[in-house]
Amino acid sequence: MELIIAKTAGYCFGVNNAVDSVEKAIKEHENTDIYTLGPIIHNKQVIDKLTKKGVKTIEDLSEISQGIVIIRSHGVGENILKEADEKDLNTINATCPYVKSIQQKVNQYYKNGYKIIIIGDKNHPEVKGINGWCENNALVVDNKNSVPNTDKYDKICVVAQTTITNTLYKEITDKISEQNPNAVLFNTICNATRERQDETKTIASSVDCMIIIGGYHSSNTQKLVVISQQNCKNTIHIETKEDLEIGSIRKYKKVGISAGASTPRWIIEEVIDFMENNLENEIENDMKESYEET
Ligand code: F3S
Repeated sequence: MELIIAKTAGYCFGVNNAVDSVEKAIKEHENTDIYTLGPIIHNKQVIDKLTKKGVKTIEDLSEISQGIVIIRSHGVGENILKEADEKDLNTINATCPYVKSIQQKVNQYYKNGYKIIIIGDKNHPEVKGINGWCENNALVVDNKNSVPNTDKYDKICVVAQTTITNTLYKEITDKISEQNPNAVLFNTICNATRERQDETKTIASSVDCMIIIGGYHSSNTQKLVVISQQNCKNTIHIETKEDLEIGSIRKYKKVGISAGASTPRWIIEEVIDFMENNLENEIENDMKESYEET
């Protein structure tokens, strides 16, 4: 069996930074309560580890009155940062710089009288956070059929959730531009996402079976699964090695592996080791070495 492992598999820069912020806070503030506002990443195994080290997840600032609160890479609305300030909490803002830049754009254009449109999932924390920089007045669109009539707005500014696909971005912005040729469009899909999606597509279209590793609730992992399914009918989504039925992949000659931006390296390595141990002498290892070098 030939195993092809995506070089882009695993933590992106923003997630790595957020998890590091929590680890650093644990080391530097031994006797202080540490909270994350929402799970720091969409990965159950990482959250379990941090919980064991005493980090608590809260859903709302009303749940606490002191301590350190860490803002995850998805970011939050301006009002939440103000609330944390008013409560005199020690806030560590681990919002990914790419998300921060979207928040700043939205805030600036909103103040200049633009109607903000966010392409993305209205229930995703990143989108909710971005919307919080224009007083929750944005229109959120997640498919081309739900693009509202924008004729009535003189000035429109469009941004995208960082993890959507280019196809979705293009479908929606084409429709908005038809209605409103002067709309200001920002393709804010993050490069890390784009590269990971492109590599997943390339690998998936060249293998017999594709394994995508990542949280079942992770939005960016779910998108990789969809992209992979479109290019490889034998796509398997797993969270950890425990979910992998080794018997079901033995028949394939070429297997690809990719992983979401919130999947830690150790989980990917566990899956690879598990495959190697159970498919003895059946795996050619060249690709693993190239993954380990990155
Ligand atoms: Fe940031 Fe892109 Fe990751 S926006 S959190 S580097 S997917």
